[in-house]
Amino acid sequence: MVCQCQCSTGINYDLIDRIIEKYQGQEGSLIPILHEVQQVVGYLPEEVQAYIAEKLEVPLSEIYGVVSFYSLFSTKPKGKFKVSVCLGTACYVKGSGQVLSELEKQLGIRVGETTDDGMFTLEACRCLGACGLAPVLTVNDNVHGRLTTDDVTDIIKKYKNL
Ligand code: FES
Repeated sequence: MVCQCQCSTGINYDLIDRIIEKYQGQEGSLIPILHEVQQVVGYLPEEVQAYIAEKLEVPLSEIYGVVSFYSLFSTKPKGKFKVSVCLGTACYVKGSGQVLSELEKQLGIRVGETTDDGMFTLEACRCLGACGLAPVLTVNDNVHGRLTTDDVTDIIKKYKNL
């Protein structure tokens, strides 16, 4: 039996229920349900996957299969700040690969990981549509452009102090 309340896990199962109810009886609703649940919970831990499986009366293995197949889903909590480095062509030729390596070095994590203090999640992405500012990264919704590896320390410091 999985948790039905907002207990020590901090997961709001009432909200999850409402999302599931919204899609009740609709074909192909698993991915939109998982997507919306991830938006409210922040990620899709196993207990949440089990809860959704029970509610939808589908095997947990089916939920797990979808969650692990699509990179948009995460089973681990994301950091307060999502740092996304553009590896699109314009950015890559202007050194975004080096910027990414410097971030990995200074944050002590690899792409897809989150720092132990829960502050930063590091990601790589395709063209952000800001090629004129290449190389570009975003921190949540903020765009930082024309970067060099020398900018990395200041960017990390800026968000650490927020
Ligand atoms: S290639 Fe990076 S913003 Fe377009």
